[in-house]
Amino acid sequence: NRPIVIAVDGPAASGKGTIARALAAHFGLPHMDTGLLYRAVALNLWRWGGDPSSEFEALRACSAVGVDPDDPELRSEAVSKYASAISAYPSVRAALLERQQEFAGQPKGAVLDGRDIGTVIAPDAPVKLFVTASAEVRAQRRVRELLARGMPAHLEDVLLDIHARDDRDSSRKTAPLRQADGALLLDTTDLDVDQSIAKAINLAEEQL
Ligand code: C5P
Repeated sequence: NRPIVIAVDGPAASGKGTIARALAAHFGLPHMDTGLLYRAVALNLWRWGGDPSSEFEALRACSAVGVDPDDPELRSEAVSKYASAISAYPSVRAALLERQQEFAGQPKGAVLDGRDIGTVIAPDAPVKLFVTASAEVRAQRRVRELLARGMPAHLEDVLLDIHARDDRDSSRKTAPLRQADGALLLDTTDLDVDQSIAKAINLAEEQL
């Protein structure tokens, strides 16, 4: 009865959040969307009129950061850009590390999704998935998601933003986005939601 820790990593709008929530429901585990932590810091900074190119100001925005997952502003494009910028700072990543590792360390285990769960937060997780999809398909999904939340969205802008975030997330020095050792690849480009979830459950059970 060892804890089931499931690390789900991948680029923006790859489907990792949906997959992580479904895995959590399937295995009866708590789930943390770690992107929301970075988004909450970004939203703090944005509300104060802080400068995302200052590591010092970004770090200040980490203190006592609370997350209301239903706050639509967390998903806005402005906050997405700020989140991508501030997540490159080692001090910001360090400030958010303990909270994530504590969550992963719960007795029965947990599902966490993000960029560095399998590489940094929980490198010993028994189940690791790396979820991807083509940038075009991810941009279409993000547009649908934003419109469904009543936020304005344009495909060209979103695609540019996805490329920019992919580049930043993969090229940063601290905890860059990459497939962790031992992680299984799940490409959802040609899969619908139900197919992606079914495949993720199969891959997870393969690793347990
Ligand atoms: O996953 P989501 O798009 O909500 O994440 C927002 C931003 O936070 C990403 O662009 C990424 O730069 C950063 N992030 C990160 N590490 C994580 C989760 C998110 O650097 N574990």
